Amino acid sequence: MTRCWRMISGLVLFAYVVAHLVNHSLGIVSLAAMEAMLEWVRPVWASIPGTVGIYGAFLVHVGLAFFALWERRTLKLRPLETLQYLLGFSIPLLASTHVTGTRINDSLLGGDGSHYVKVLAGLWYAEPLNGVVQIALLFIAWVHVCIGLRFWLRLRPWYETAQPYLYAAALLLPVFALLGFVAGERELGAALQQNPGLLASTLASRVLPGARPLLNDIAWGIFGALLGVTAGVLVARLIRSRRQRRRGVSRITYPGRRWIDIPHGFSVLDASQMLGMPHTSICGGKGRCSTCRIRVLAEPDALPPPAADEQRVLQRIRAPPNVRLACQLRPRGAVNVLPLVTSPLIGRDHLRRPVSADGGEREIVVMFADLHDFTRLAETRLPYDVVFILNRYFQEMGQAVEGAGGHVDKFIGDGVMALFGLQIASGRACMQALSAARMMFVRLDEINSALGGDLDAPLRMGIGIHVGPAVVGEIGYGRTRSLTAIGDTVNIASRLQTLSKTYGCELVVSDKLVAVAGLELRDLPSHELVIEGRCAPLGIRTVTKACDLPALP
Ligand code: FES
Repeated sequence: MTRCWRMISGLVLFAYVVAHLVNHSLGIVSLAAMEAMLEWVRPVWASIPGTVGIYGAFLVHVGLAFFALWERRTLKLRPLETLQYLLGFSIPLLASTHVTGTRINDSLLGGDGSHYVKVLAGLWYAEPLNGVVQIALLFIAWVHVCIGLRFWLRLRPWYETAQPYLYAAALLLPVFALLGFVAGERELGAALQQNPGLLASTLASRVLPGARPLLNDIAWGIFGALLGVTAGVLVARLIRSRRQRRRGVSRITYPGRRWIDIPHGFSVLDASQMLGMPHTSICGGKGRCSTCRIRVLAEPDALPPPAADEQRVLQRIRAPPNVRLACQLRPRGAVNVLPLVTSPLIGRDHLRRPVSADGGEREIVVMFADLHDFTRLAETRLPYDVVFILNRYFQEMGQAVEGAGGHVDKFIGDGVMALFGLQIASGRACMQALSAARMMFVRLDEINSALGGDLDAPLRMGIGIHVGPAVVGEIGYGRTRSLTAIGDTVNIASRLQTLSKTYGCELVVSDKLVAVAGLELRDLPSHELVIEGRCAPLGIRTVTKACDLPALP
């Protein structure tokens, strides 16, 4: 709930800051353009819903920041978090003069300060120091917003791709705003040179006589109140920590016999941070990423059961019962823990992968296809021709596999490895694989017809298909990581494909595949394959022509 409100209020403030920056940028065009946009957005922000939205969001966001300051068990933060907190707390302090000079002045004291001409005149000529403060405020707010957005979005699968564009926008927008602000002053300065009396009349209508001391008092009042609340929260934290220590502590022990006593109510992640243990926590302890997960050894009474949010994350990663999220687990007794994710990069990559990419054993259909005698063909051809033929072949085979619902795992030399059943039951996956095999031979015939004049002999292919358990997951490193399967089932499928040459047939499938598909293929020749390490031989069926397979639904 807190997270949700922080995000909603943050997005409203983000929209407000972006509107300000864009409005300032229009100074590059002209002062009139700045005023025109202001005339357009002001009614929105000044309306009752706009006022409630922007000031409500501001109060909620600031209130949640104080709440977070109270809630945090330790003030040891990562550098970027520290920067975000410091910038965040300085915003309301600096914004106090902005709010009093515009909204309070205009709405309550009869001033008229919400025009660019007046704002620029005031900040450049009457109160230059305040002008510097307001520019600093805009940049501080912008950096605070950008850090917050980064924390929020960086775990999205598309973030890495979008990152250069987001960084460019984050950099250019404030730069354009500053240029617009300066350009607006240049234009105003030129007008003031032609009409020296204009400055005094502009400033006079900005703040009514006598209102300035009151505005200053209000600004200092807001400033003092914010500092007072901050100090109050820090003192309250100190008192709470003393009381908690008196109530009881839990001992958290890490590998290497490092341990720390934490008051009840503190999480294991708090303990790691207090002890200075490196502990991955990509989402910053918000229970969203699972990277802080730990294996726990403790008396049952020492562990409160996981709450709904934690349970959801644990289910998603299919965690065993002794694995918990360190940021959510608040032990009530001694526990031994082992952090399971040791590299922040591993954690981040893990989050960006789809659920299906998490390693796990499942029943899957594996297909291998290979061109017979392609090496000989390659030896008699120019490399360019070989690449052309192979690319055409891979394109057709890939489309046939994907058209049937499979996943092309990889192209190996002139071979293809494909998986079926990543998302569906194995019965349907077997049917998909057989359909794909039929279609692959249809497409091979088409290639042979198209390239007939260029080939000494038609391309011939053998396919092997088997179904069984395999470990499926993303394997590799960095950008070369891809979804694949490993295990006996893969080896057997590969072996069946090589047997297609031995038996002079197009397709070799295991009896198990035929059974799981629910087909009756008694007319097909059957054989037995002895597999090392297995007691019973594996029954297989050979299909001379894949197009002879019965029509599959
Ligand atoms: S730090 Fe992300 S779930 Fe604990």
